[in-house]
Amino acid sequence: MHVHVADHPLVSHKLTVLRDASTDSPTFRRLADELVTLLAYEATRDVRVETVQVMTPVAQAQGVRLADPRPLVVPILRAGLGMLEGMQRLLPTAEVGFLGMVRNEATLEADTYAERLPDDLSGRQCYVLDPMLATGGSLAAAIHFLVKRGADHITAVCLLAAPEGIERIEREMTEVGVPVTLVVAGLDERLDENGYIVPGLGDAGDRLYGVA
Ligand code: PRP
Ligand code: URA
Repeated sequence: MHVHVADHPLVSHKLTVLRDASTDSPTFRRLADELVTLLAYEATRDVRVETVQVMTPVAQAQGVRLADPRPLVVPILRAGLGMLEGMQRLLPTAEVGFLGMVRNEATLEADTYAERLPDDLSGRQCYVLDPMLATGGSLAAAIHFLVKRGADHITAVCLLAAPEGIERIEREMTEVGVPVTLVVAGLDERLDENGYIVPGLGDAGDRLYGVA
């Protein structure tokens, strides 16, 4: 897996405020949205474009526009929803598919409770959004869904990732033979005994939406 850590002072600044336990939900939502826009810039570096001609007020010029087939953005509910607008802002032609997953906090395995994806994803560039890559169970399950539908170009956009989660995605994706790119704002040290990222930012869904 290719891991790209967005190394930029604005990313580090926003991430630091997100981590702060005293940051309230409205501020957390705004910063998550801003961070995703910065990550989206990196994540879409290889998005497909086609050449077009454009008439400026002065002369004809050659440019590009986002090409078909349209990219697919897949937020993993619930916390991934907090990243959707920031991604759509930079990728306005994208379609959106949804996956609802919740981690069983006893087993740390992901349960899927909702799925709304196009049937055929062959040839589509897919961008999966989930703020936290902890054990990797949720992201791995999401990527397996996409691969079963024919996806072979997958980029995951996360705010924080733990080494354990990265290793799991690497292992499982090598087994299925699909390369995955991860774009992340920060790489953290480890997981604690409850599967939380350390130092992390706590429960991303609760901090975004305030309901446990
Ligand atoms: C959180 C987070 C990820 C998952 C990461 O979701 O948003 O989806 O945990 O953990 P993992 O890498 O160990 O699978 P959660 O299950 O809390 O659901 P939520 O988004 O509804 O809060
Ligand atoms: N899910 C979260 O929201 N935070 C963690 O640290 C781990 C899983």
